[in-house]
Amino acid sequence: MVISMDKWVGKVAIVTGASSGIGKAIAASLVEHGLIVVGTARRSELVEEHAKQLSGKKGKLHGIKADFSKEEDILKTFEWTTKNLGPVHILVNNAGTAKHTNLTEGKTEDWKAVLDLNVLGLCIATREAVKVMKANNISGHIVHINSIFGHSVVNLPNMDVYPASKFAVTALTETLRQELTHLGSKIKVTSISPGLVESELTTLNKTQTPERKAIFQKMPILKSENIADVVVYALSTPEHVQFTMVLSMNRWAGKVAVVTGASSGIGAAIADALVEHGLIVAGVARRVELIEHRSRQRSGKKGKIHAVKADITSEEDILKAFRWIADNLGPVHVLVNNAGYMKEGLLTEGDTQEWKKEFDVNVLALCIATKEAIRYRGTRGPQSAKIECVFRDQVCGDGAH
Ligand SMILES: NC(=O)c1ccc[n+]([C@@H]2O[C@H](COP(=O)([O-])OP(=O)(O)OC[C@H]3O[C@@H](n4cnc5c(N)ncnc54)[C@H](OP(=O)(O)O)[C@@H]3O)[C@@H](O)[C@H]2O)c1
Repeated sequence: MVISMDKWVGKVAIVTGASSGIGKAIAASLVEHGLIVVGTARRSELVEEHAKQLSGKKGKLHGIKADFSKEEDILKTFEWTTKNLGPVHILVNNAGTAKHTNLTEGKTEDWKAVLDLNVLGLCIATREAVKVMKANNISGHIVHINSIFGHSVVNLPNMDVYPASKFAVTALTETLRQELTHLGSKIKVTSISPGLVESELTTLNKTQTPERKAIFQKMPILKSENIADVVVYALSTPEHVQFTMVLSMNRWAGKVAVVTGASSGIGAAIADALVEHGLIVAGVARRVELIEHRSRQRSGKKGKIHAVKADITSEEDILKAFRWIADNLGPVHVLVNNAGYMKEGLLTEGDTQEWKKEFDVNVLALCIATKEAIRYRGTRGPQSAKIECVFRDQVCGDGAH
């Protein structure tokens, strides 16, 4: 869902922690989109190796050796970049670490290492980037790779100061946004908060305990490329769009999602994916027997799919379906308006009844279902305060309500 990356082609981006995981994927994606990327890490040889693999792409990757918990290294990185490549337009504060000690016995030096990199390093890099952007009148973009731990402390063992460091990133995002607004600056700030991502920090960490490994195995897991896609989306948005994104399905577990057209194709696949993530799915369709069959096949999964019979060209059916869902499953938190109908034909020779059916399914049913989803949110307890409406490829989430 990238809007346009054209404005960034040939511009300079600094991605910290680019030797592995999320930073590596972000660097690759920005190079694909034609940016000149400085990838920083202590293991700069890995970034240089990656740069060779990316040669021939639209942009270019440069590896810089730097420990971003050290101010001196950060300052040198910005000096080198300005002198050799030009002023920075994008900074992705991605480098981060966790030590997995605890708060009752952990070592001060471990806590300091986490805070120096995740918090202070991020602040220093941001200050340096803003300095260069201001001096060159650049409407740049600062992206912080935060975490769901920056919004709530999940019950996991040995998290020590890591959640505190990410809560700091949440506060720093807002403080920076306010400061830039106060200064009349056009520099944008985005914080992206992934849930569990496969990387050396988590599942690929060779020193992880069996206990932690077992916990990770039970959790839904994202790929680094998923985060890179979100970063590119954030960068592609127009000047007036500011967004912050929390990437985790945990908050939806046990909540009700309505998926229209769930008996086959995309709707069936969406319903299956939501069930995997623990949602209670109301699959709406005429051919309910197909949904019931899928439901039996998926028994034992984290969530559950319920078949709800409705012909969505009939308003009465839609109203009945939502009433049943609210009465039997609970308030609606997610609506996926997936059902669609298309009959090939010419506008000069087509059949009026077919056109009417297309409008009834693709437009009117979507409007009525949306109205009903909103009607059945929030009437049944505090958990129903939020609703996420998905109109095919467009998501208006928490912020809109
Ligand atoms: N994986 C997850 O589940 C997850 C979830 C939410 C948020 N995050 C956040 O995502 C970011 C990237 O993590 P990841 O999962 O991609 O882990 P990763 O594969 O371990 O990557 C961490 C990157 O940070 C760099 N780094 C670590 N210490 C550094 C230091 N002192 N100076 C400079 N660079 C340093 C590493 O490079 P060198 O070791 O070569 O220096 C590496 O490139 C972190 O901010 C993390 O908190 C991760």
